[in-house]
Amino acid sequence: MIPVELIKKKREGEVLTPDELQKFVNGYVNGEIPDYQMAAWLMAVYFQGMSDTEMKEFTRVMIHSGTVIDLSFIPGVKVDKHSTGGVGDKVSVILAPLVAACGIPVPMISGRGLGHTGGTLDKLESIPGFRTDLDIDSYKKTIEKIGVVMIGQTKDIAPADKKMYALRDVTATVECIPLIAGSIMSKKLAEGIDALVLDVKTGSGAFMRKKSEAIELAKTLINVGESFGKRTIGFITDMNQPLGNAVGNWLEIEECIRCMKGNEIQDLMEVTYRLAGAMIYLGGKSGSIEEGESVAREAIESGAAFEKFLQLVNEQGGDVSYIENPTRYKKAEYNKEVVLGKEGFVSEIDNYGIGIAGLITGAGRRKIDDSIDYTAGIIIHKKIGDRVGKEDPIATVYANEKKNVEDAVLRITEAYRLSDDAVEPRQYIYGMADKNGYYDY
Ligand code: URA
Repeated sequence: MIPVELIKKKREGEVLTPDELQKFVNGYVNGEIPDYQMAAWLMAVYFQGMSDTEMKEFTRVMIHSGTVIDLSFIPGVKVDKHSTGGVGDKVSVILAPLVAACGIPVPMISGRGLGHTGGTLDKLESIPGFRTDLDIDSYKKTIEKIGVVMIGQTKDIAPADKKMYALRDVTATVECIPLIAGSIMSKKLAEGIDALVLDVKTGSGAFMRKKSEAIELAKTLINVGESFGKRTIGFITDMNQPLGNAVGNWLEIEECIRCMKGNEIQDLMEVTYRLAGAMIYLGGKSGSIEEGESVAREAIESGAAFEKFLQLVNEQGGDVSYIENPTRYKKAEYNKEVVLGKEGFVSEIDNYGIGIAGLITGAGRRKIDDSIDYTAGIIIHKKIGDRVGKEDPIATVYANEKKNVEDAVLRITEAYRLSDDAVEPRQYIYGMADKNGYYDY
């Protein structure tokens, strides 16, 4: 293989053969192909795309760049969920124990937050002692014992994606559907699942700002999942405002605890129940998604979901006393309410700006190796459609550095638009896609 020829081939819009893809990707993983050649090839893919078959072969090569976990020794249909991420998206923290409490094994591999978006691993690690760095053996033992496990991508799972994603992040080649599909699906298909539910977010705080792009991504991910024999369902959900009220790691865990105890936050739980319904349906424990939603509601009402969460925290080394009594957790040193000083109805929130405000508080990271402040973040009090009085706080900011509080307050103030006329609340779930196509709700 001559790397430059494969770069040229892609640059000209030709299709690489399975053998060429394998040699090129594996050559990159083992260091034979340098970053600059992979970067050039990624940019060629960005402009030229991939054929359907090529994308599936690319995914296969990425999956087999590392260990493919076999969970067939565990009875039942193993189902996971993947979200394309956003601001205040804490669904996985509730969803994994909830679905496991309904008898479906949930092996979940999640990511960290970067830029304006949060990550499930950071949220879980805000629980003192919680370990997300289990090796594959402990991963298998945990799911076998309690029916759920939540870890991060290890060095053995899809290592080609790990290396390529870091390069894409700094070469402006992230926003490319075949590369995203290969990246997401290689990790999911290597973790041992039988079926997958996707939450593809759209709006100002999402990766896919336009709904049409989110639908296209969902359809592509479903096409890849199904071609590997995994039943895959996707939902297009709103990310034009934070999901729930909390943004920031421990603040979000606290919100999840409240929801799991039955004090539900409407938008967050509507999305959670729909995804849970789909997972329960794919797991064979209900005849439809709607029926699966009812099963999930019962697991919250009976306390079974919260019990399963306690079990998960305990099993992965976390201190359950903070889950049983969240007020024990240290508070951020400073807090400040955000008041707009004008009245009206919230018509728009720049959710990217809210995500950046969260990052400014210390809840996020600017660079991959930055440390984060688990106590920092934002509690949103007013969402789209809500009426705001002149003195009403729209949010409260929590941080351990005074300057960060002021900067975040400014950023949140700039993110809100008010209108004199009443505004309809936003729809939380736009539609659903499966192997037969997309259906708007
Ligand atoms: N998330 C991933 O894991 N990979 C991508 O390419 C984009 C989002």
